[in-house]
Amino acid sequence: MNLIVAVDRKWAIGRDGQLLFTIPDDMRFFKKMTTGKVVVMGHATLRSLPKGKPLKDRTNIVLSRNRELVIEGALVCHSAGELFSVLESYADDEVWVIGGETVYRLLLPYCTDAYITKVDAVAAADTFFPNLDESGDWQIADCSETFHHEGFSYAFVHYRCREPLKVLQRLRDGAKAPDNKI
Ligand SMILES: NC(=O)c1ccc[n+]([C@@H]2O[C@H](COP(=O)([O-])OP(=O)(O)OC[C@H]3O[C@@H](n4cnc5c(N)ncnc54)[C@H](OP(=O)(O)O)[C@@H]3O)[C@@H](O)[C@H]2O)c1
Repeated sequence: MNLIVAVDRKWAIGRDGQLLFTIPDDMRFFKKMTTGKVVVMGHATLRSLPKGKPLKDRTNIVLSRNRELVIEGALVCHSAGELFSVLESYADDEVWVIGGETVYRLLLPYCTDAYITKVDAVAAADTFFPNLDESGDWQIADCSETFHHEGFSYAFVHYRCREPLKVLQRLRDGAKAPDNKI
């Protein structure tokens, strides 16, 4: 499983249900990486998308505990266990976790690759991503040059989990676990 996120210098990702930055190049990168793939998001992140609608040209999966919720153009999963059962039909590298904080924290242990847009700024925020530089589980595989947009400097950093085989095993175990165990 892959994960994609834009963070500030303190690994902040959002405020009041919205993104911290609008960087066209980052939006294009997000689109390029996720188009034609499966995107997994929390209900709050869905609400933050334009008109609160699923993303075009992608298989959208939304996590929500609300069993009444019906979303046109998206599949709703009510637990991590239910999500893993659905994801069993897809290749691991086709799946992209796209936020927000709750869902990133839930699924980070099942991801092998994390694509982090690092924005060199500090924004007022209420949602954060775990600091991968302080975690022994991740290492930088690749880093772009630094780009600039309207006063922001940013770079695309690809992190790879140090023990991908362990992650894949966890994924398989997750798929087998009953809903209430995850
Ligand atoms: N910087 C970035 O790249 C980036 C990317 C994405 C999002 N964000 C930001 O992140 C913020 C949102 O993050 P968030 O943590 O508040 O919300 P979130 O993770 O998007 O969604 C949380 C919701 O997902 C559902 N959920 C979570 N875990 C679940 C589980 N185990 N089983 C079933 N449902 C589950 C629940 O929905 P119900 O309440 O319906 O039950 C929960 O309220 C926003 O500010 C957004 O803009 C930033």
